[in-house]
Amino acid sequence: MEKREDGGGAEAAVFSPAEIEYVNYGGEHHLPLIMGLVDDELSEPYSIFTYRYFVYLWPNLSFLAFHKGKCVGTVVCKMGEHRNTFRGYIAMLVVIKPYRGRGIATELVTRSIQVMMESGCDEVTLEAEVTNKGALALYGRLGFIRSKRLFRYYLNGVDAFRLKLLFPRPDPLLSINSNESHNHSDHPQDVYSELHHNVQ
Ligand SMILES: CC(C)(COP(=O)(O)OP(=O)(O)OC[C@H]1O[C@@H](n2cnc3c(N)ncnc32)[C@H](O)[C@@H]1OP(=O)(O)O)[C@@H](O)C(=O)NCCC(=O)NCCS
Repeated sequence: MEKREDGGGAEAAVFSPAEIEYVNYGGEHHLPLIMGLVDDELSEPYSIFTYRYFVYLWPNLSFLAFHKGKCVGTVVCKMGEHRNTFRGYIAMLVVIKPYRGRGIATELVTRSIQVMMESGCDEVTLEAEVTNKGALALYGRLGFIRSKRLFRYYLNGVDAFRLKLLFPRPDPLLSINSNESHNHSDHPQDVYSELHHNVQ
């Protein structure tokens, strides 16, 4: 995700965190809200088809934050097979300026990651501009590591870091030893994680 240049500060909103309502993507009426936020804050232009691709296929992974009926933040994600892993991907994350620094992005991302984990993802990835200190700090706090530097990744010529969060998997040896009647799972994810502990 590439950040738009900051046009200056904004008055901080006065609110209590308990007043923020987090909702799952709930249909077409949420689409203009997501698009408005992302178009304003991220520099790379996305077409409506890109937004629809994400929210139609993975509505359970996208969340919006509302304060008194106003949309103040959003996260848009996907998940799927990637080189023999089942991978979650955070595509867009935005909180509007007056609401920043109060944990809203952390809550949005944590909700998506929770669903990815429950859905069997092995890992979560995303890209962030190497200059985006806020996003790098946020994801660092959540346990993401920098797995690659992508040269001139964005249209604006800025490099990106690929960030990755690996979910811990139970040690297969422990479960084999502790239960002889243990049924071996043939689910591709389980087979893969037994063979390869760490990917890439
Ligand atoms: C990045 C962004 C989503 C953060 O939203 P937020 O709601 O302010 O984030 P949080 O309040 O959950 O921040 C959690 C932690 O991230 C870090 N962080 C967030 N913004 C930061 C900043 N500007 N500078 C340094 N650290 C920052 C801090 O460690 C913070 O914890 P702390 O407040 O206890 O120190 C928001 O600044 C934004 O929308 N930026 C523009 C779009 C963007 O860059 N998206 C990410 C693309 S990868």
